Amino acid sequence: MKVLVITASKHGATREIGAAIAAELREAGLTAVEAEPGEVSGLDGYDAVVLGSAVYMTQWMENIRNLMAHHGRELRELPLWAFSVGLSGVPVGAVQDPRRIGPHLLSINPIDHQTFKGRMDLSGLSLRERSIARLGNAPEGDFREWDKIRGWARQIAADLKEHLPAR
Ligand SMILES: Cc1cc2nc3c(=O)[nH]c(=O)nc-3n(C[C@H](O)[C@H](O)[C@H](O)COP(=O)(O)O)c2cc1C
Repeated sequence: MKVLVITASKHGATREIGAAIAAELREAGLTAVEAEPGEVSGLDGYDAVVLGSAVYMTQWMENIRNLMAHHGRELRELPLWAFSVGLSGVPVGAVQDPRRIGPHLLSINPIDHQTFKGRMDLSGLSLRERSIARLGNAPEGDFREWDKIRGWARQIAADLKEHLPAR
């Protein structure tokens, strides 16, 4: 069974989460291919997709929104899981909360959508990004919860094996 793990990441935190998910799927005996949105020309040959994006200014990144616009029909035809990566400690419902990016996700109908905490390293940001992060009182640090991420990936593998056993 072949799973495509697509991640949109600007500063690497989301890409590394995608890599951990792919590693866990491989550990479970699946074939997992990692890609950035711009590398995906079609979904032929894949049995499932995991789609994740960093959240910037309350939105999924533009490259992954473009991918959803161009490949929406194919994406809807496959079992699909989605995750968003955003700030830590944002109260549910606050304007920066990645859960609010839902409308993009409704168009591709994921089986599940998870929000994972990301990483904020001010030294790696542009001046503009840094001032936005300061305005939002963004806490600096790496808040990624690897056990939660890996556990979610294992659940995806188990669901796929149960529902698509013959592939
Ligand atoms: C300029 C800027 C804007 C951001 N806006 C949001 C936001 O609206 N909601 C959120 O949850 N996180 C926001 N974040 C936090 C990022 O999503 C987080 O740092 C994430 O881990 C970045 O992932 P990446 O390294 O894969 O690009 C923002 C970060 C920056 C620097």
